[in-house]
Amino acid sequence: MSKSAELADLIRSRAGTEPPAIGLVLGSGLGHLADAVNGVAIPYSDLPGFPHAGVSGHNPKLVIGTLEGVRVAIFGGRVHYYENGNPAEMRLPLEILKELGCGQLLLTNAAGSLRPDIPPGGLMMLNDHINFAGANPLIGEPSDARFVPLTDAHDQDMRAALTSAAKAEGIALPEGVYCWFSGPCFETPAEIRAAKIFGADAVGMSTVPEVILARFLGLRVAAVSVITNMGAGMADEQISHEQTKAVAPLGAAKLERVLRRYLRNF
Ligand code: HPA
Repeated sequence: MSKSAELADLIRSRAGTEPPAIGLVLGSGLGHLADAVNGVAIPYSDLPGFPHAGVSGHNPKLVIGTLEGVRVAIFGGRVHYYENGNPAEMRLPLEILKELGCGQLLLTNAAGSLRPDIPPGGLMMLNDHINFAGANPLIGEPSDARFVPLTDAHDQDMRAALTSAAKAEGIALPEGVYCWFSGPCFETPAEIRAAKIFGADAVGMSTVPEVILARFLGLRVAAVSVITNMGAGMADEQISHEQTKAVAPLGAAKLERVLRRYLRNF
């Protein structure tokens, strides 16, 4: 039996067999959403082989339960490429989601904005991405399934439903291109200028490997950034992880409303 099938069995034995309709990955400062779910929490440490997310501001547990009447699987934290240099670390968690019968994945992250009209405290939905880190979670994958088309990686229907949910909540949800930098350093002002020329609207240290893995596995996927700061060199203040954690809850509160509405409309 594959590792993901084994872990899916373990999860079903604790949380029940009903498949989650949607998986949610919570980014920096957004981990508390996992506590809003009425369900069973499984610490990552109970799931052998599960990558441990070691970033402060994350909430390392899988919660399976009901939110706004929809069966959800919430990953309270994700492991980042910069934690150990392996871009495929999220493969097992996403394989488990697929194994559990889940059809869609919603990723969230904290990001820096390159657009003055998308300020800190706001949200941005990804309509495309740039893999500036250059790493790929499918390197070494032997099957021809590795040649994943990413032309429409960010799911049109999920995006349309998220847009309606945001509109109904009166929350701005502009769309834009997310550029993945490896981190853990923040970018230089020159890198931010380069990203702007490339066509990016936001920068961050996650999400792109998970979008690639989700498409590889046949999960529909969409992603929303909580903007915690302007890109390096665009504002007077110094960018820091403390600032990310301090500002994230502002956007997280908006994201929670959009998300709850999205689920109610499911
Ligand atoms: N750059 C990269 N990642 C981030 C940023 C940023 O400016 N803000 C929050 N996560």
